[in-house]
This record gives sequence, C-alpha cells and structure tokens, in this order.
Amino acid sequence: MEYTNKNFPALKNDRLLKAACGKEVDKVPVWVMRQAGRYLPEFQAVRAQHDFFTVCRTPELACEVTLQPLRRYEHLDASIIFSDILVIPQALGMTVEMHPGVGPVFPEPLKDVSEIDNLKEEGAVSRLTYVGDAITLTRHKIEGKVPLIGFTGAPFTLMGYMIEGGGSKTMSKTKEWLEKYPKDVHRLLGLLTRVIIDYLVMQVESGAQLLQVFESSADHLTREQFIEFSVPYLKDIRSGVKTKLQEKQLDQVPMTIFAKGGGHSLDVQAEMGYETIGLDWTVDPVEARKIVGNNITLQGNLDPQDLYKTPEEIKKLTIEMTQKFGKQRYIANLGHGITPQTPLESMTVFTESVHEAV
Ligand code: CP3
Repeated sequence: MEYTNKNFPALKNDRLLKAACGKEVDKVPVWVMRQAGRYLPEFQAVRAQHDFFTVCRTPELACEVTLQPLRRYEHLDASIIFSDILVIPQALGMTVEMHPGVGPVFPEPLKDVSEIDNLKEEGAVSRLTYVGDAITLTRHKIEGKVPLIGFTGAPFTLMGYMIEGGGSKTMSKTKEWLEKYPKDVHRLLGLLTRVIIDYLVMQVESGAQLLQVFESSADHLTREQFIEFSVPYLKDIRSGVKTKLQEKQLDQVPMTIFAKGGGHSLDVQAEMGYETIGLDWTVDPVEARKIVGNNITLQGNLDPQDLYKTPEEIKKLTIEMTQKFGKQRYIANLGHGITPQTPLESMTVFTESVHEAV
C-alpha cells in the first residue's frame, strides 16, 4: 500500500479532538509535552545512532520515535510528531546544531537588524516537506489509535532563539532589540508569521489533526510586551490557518496556544481564536476557568518536577488537578515538557490517574 495523505486509517480514539472542540468526552484525554524524548531508553538508543536533526529530517526515524511513547503507555490519547521548533530558522537559512548537554546552538545568530534581509523566506516551507512526509507516514503507522498533533514555535519564541543564538536565561539581546528596534522586530515577527501559517497548513494537508503553537519564551515578557510582540501574531496565525484551509478545501483542525508564563494574559489569550489554551503549572485551574469562560478548552498543568515524587503522591496530585479542571473542556498534560531524568513509571501513574480521576 502506498502511504498518501488520502487513505489514512480511521481514528479510533477521538477524545482529544472532542475535548478540544468542546464536545462531551467519556474520559479526560491525556498526553505529555515532549512525550517522545530523552527519558525513554528507546529514544536514547535511536539518538545514539543518529544526530538530533537527522532524526527530524528522516521520516522513518521521526515516525519511530513519535510512536515510542504510545507503545509504552497505553493511556496516552494523543501523539505529537517528532520534530523541533527550530527547523523554521533552519529553513530560513540559519544553521542550528543540537549540542548534547547544551541544547540548540546557532553558530551565527542574528547580530544586527540588517541581517533580517538575509533570511530566505521564499521557499522556506518547501524546505520543510520532510516534516509533512513524517506526518503522513506516522498517520499510517499509528493505525488510527490516537490523533497526531502538529506544532510550531511562535514568532516571538523563534525570534528569541535566532537573536540569542540558543537558550538564554535573560534574553537580554532580544529585549534590547524590542527596546531599540521595534519596527525591525515587527518586520521579523511578520516574516516568521507568514512562514508559520503556510507551514501549519502544510502539516494539516499532510495529516496533522490538531496544531499546537509553542510560545515557550513568553515567560520573559510583561503583559504589555506580550500584547505588543506576541498576541497580534498569534491571532494572525490562528485566522491565517483557518482562511488558508478553507481556500484549499481542507477540513478545519482545532488549535492550541501554549504560552509558558502567559498566566498574566489569559483574558487576552481567550480572544485569540484558539480552541485550547495550554497552562503552565503556576496557574490555578479554577482561576483560569473563571477568566477564560466556558467556551475554551484548557490544557495542563502538572509541574513536570512532580513526576519525581512517589507514585502515591503523583496519583494524588494528578487526581486533584483533574478534578479542579473538571471532565469537560479539559486536556490533561504537564505544565511544560517532561524532563530527561523522569522515572519511566511516573508517566504510567500520571496517565492512568487522569483516566481514573473523573
Ligand atoms: O513533544 C514531543 O515529544 C515532540 C518533540 C518536540 C521536541 N522539541 C523534541 C526535542 C517538541 C514539541 C519540541 C518543541 C521545542 N523545541 C520547544 C517548545 C517546547 C518547550 O519545551 O518549550 C523548544 C523551546 C525547543 C527548542 C529546543 N529543542 C531546546 C531548548 C532543546 C534543548 C533542551 C532539551 O530539552 O534538551 C531542544 C532539544 C530537543 N527537542 C530534544 C527533544 C527530544 C532533546 C535533544 C536530544 O535528543 O539531544
């Protein structure tokens, strides 16, 4: 059989999609950010053989590591395609390397606003077709067990990596740009937004059934900065994807915004058109629900660090969290990505406890 984007196996577990669209569910759906990753020995075995971005660029390998957590954890209600947010800067012509123990490194970050003109917007998405190919292959290999999530980094988060040249505790260079060169910053954010919209539409065309936008560096922004440098672009991404899917006569998919540290702006986030808002662990579920109202799904938000506690404690915390959020319009997850040293059993306890909770 040929693996095309036309003949996918039927979906057997649609809890995640139902919850995202506000339909009633039998159990709370659960998945975990970074569920494919270094805490899994089978992932480390693949990484021992292949460079990080080689895994991203090879559909068979990306598919294999996407499926790994599903084989181990029967309670997972979703998969997320294995890739990275930094494939976009690569497609724009920047070099990004993954250094073990360090994280992503840009040998030549953006040093001056004039360098924005060197970015290769034209054809950027055509340099990311390997992500689409990985999505299509995975949709077949997953055999309809659970839906497949596609994702992207949000413009501000991507810009931050492009300027800092990697992860940064302070993001001081990026903040200097926000102060000194707001016009150029908006030009760069606009460029990233256009590429992201086409990239997400390509992912849906390839088989992604829900899309998550990671604004992981929002924790560096004040509410005012978030409203100026993030919100307009997140809104454009949501409406742009909707319009382009319509134009291409593709089915609409629900979208999730996860702005880490965005707890100060949930009221604003609720107006951006996303079906689901992801919360980090600093946000109280009951308070969040009061702010966003009843027409939005919430996702989150156990502290990843809680997975280092005893199984009994994890179970208790997970059940408490799930009950606070309630059964409807809720997707259980951690408040950020699972960390590398997490005991394997903790994931079993976490995912099982969600299904038992309400
Ligand atoms: O969730 C999944 O299972 C899908 C895969 C996924 C990865 N990165 C794989 C990965 C996803 C959704 C991402 C998104 C991503 N990448 C984000 C947003 C989410 C977040 O955590 O805030 C960010 C900021 C990045 C950039 C990035 N990639 C960083 C900062 C790092 C280093 C930190 C770390 O955890 O190592 C990466 C590397 C990375 N991306 C790894 C994985 C499995 C580990 C690298 C390795 O295998 O050597």
